[in-house]
Amino acid sequence: MDSILVTGNGPLNGQIPIAGAKNACLTLMPATLLSEDPLTLTNAPRLSDIKTMTALLQSLGAEVSSLQDGQVIAMSSHNLTSQTADYDIVRKMRASNLVLGPLLARFGQAVVSLPGGCAIGARPMDLHVEGLEALGAEIELKDGYLHAKAPGGLKGAVHEMRFASVGATENIVMAATLAKGTTVLKNAAREPEIVDLVECLRKMGAQIAGEGTSTIEIQGVDRLHGATHQVVTDRIELGTYMLAPAICGGEIELLGGRMSLVESFAAKLDAAGVSVEETDKGLKVARKNGRVTAVDVVTEPFPGFPTDLQAQMMALMCTAEGTSVLEERIFENRFMHAPELVRMGAQIEVHGGTATVTGVECLKGAPVMATDLRASVSLILAGLAAEGETTVSRVYHLDRGYEHVVRKLEGVGAKIERIKGE
Ligand code: EPZ
Repeated sequence: MDSILVTGNGPLNGQIPIAGAKNACLTLMPATLLSEDPLTLTNAPRLSDIKTMTALLQSLGAEVSSLQDGQVIAMSSHNLTSQTADYDIVRKMRASNLVLGPLLARFGQAVVSLPGGCAIGARPMDLHVEGLEALGAEIELKDGYLHAKAPGGLKGAVHEMRFASVGATENIVMAATLAKGTTVLKNAAREPEIVDLVECLRKMGAQIAGEGTSTIEIQGVDRLHGATHQVVTDRIELGTYMLAPAICGGEIELLGGRMSLVESFAAKLDAAGVSVEETDKGLKVARKNGRVTAVDVVTEPFPGFPTDLQAQMMALMCTAEGTSVLEERIFENRFMHAPELVRMGAQIEVHGGTATVTGVECLKGAPVMATDLRASVSLILAGLAAEGETTVSRVYHLDRGYEHVVRKLEGVGAKIERIKGE
């Protein structure tokens, strides 16, 4: 297994291009199942999760080709041969469950493995099931698989979700595009990735309104046609690299970044003493005056502070002046980066869903282990600011969500290299 060696090397300066959003692409790709016509995505990120979704769609009989070094994904599900998403793929990536709604809508049946737990939590699918059942689906759990059918097709309904789940919103919206009648989805998630999905579905002929608000209304249509869609910029990659100059000093322009994607996060950085300024190319980020100050963080559904940036923000707070309290309200076990940061000299106390961080002047490099996607990059950020060398092992987690990390950080002056493992 490969590792990444980072050596603290002072301020970082220059530009970092931000890729298309992993979490948008992972819901846009299953949308191809809704139509016989081709769906083409541009500005797609080059990530292992995208390869996993490609393999899943191909296992269903879809044609998926990756063009222009992976930045274009051309898909067609004209001749599907299966409606079963196998455990061996779904267990690797929870987002595989996003084929459930489209398969049910187009074919009236789907068999999708429950994803099983993952490092950050149990991650059940009850909200997905409740929403699809509200549209008339009959769903039964058997041998670890959800067996879903809608023999007479799905019917529009008014449904309020108990929690604004991103994935459940995506599954229900995709299913409702081909349901008979009108669906009103209440307490819907508002993430930019959902707005991006709806914009793509609309290009395919879907009739949807309200995306980005808590109430989304979908008029079912008989069929959807093909489209070409550009994947929205990745706000989590954007937020992650905004923290590089915050933790190391210097000034970095994040190309393709937009303030509208990271408003609550940028506000927190501003309160901590980091300026974020919109330019015609993206976002320019720099510390206002020396060491940042501690701020408290509570993770919430969009537009609140993103849970996917909590680990990275904790790394910054480890070097801040003062004490910061970070409350993780979305996942039940998303502080696994904390003991690894403590190995680097951080002062962190975790009690249940709350981590209290007392900033230190300087972290010390150390061998640390990545435990999940966002924890892995939080350790790299800490290593960039630490004295000495930090080796981050199990970087396969990193490859799931960050393309060309070494190249992007080297480009702004970081001392970082990837060490080939056995
Ligand atoms: C999406 O996961 C993202 N993944 C996650 O990003 C992100 O952390 C999460 O949304 C929250 O923003 C993709 O988009 C591929 P949820 P998702 O359904 O859809 C509970 C990353 O790092 N829940 O909003 O799975 C669930 O257990 C990943 O890129 C139920 O209880 O998130 C969790 O505690 C990590 N029942 C909370 O809701 C359900 O049926 C949020 O889950 C569904 C979810």
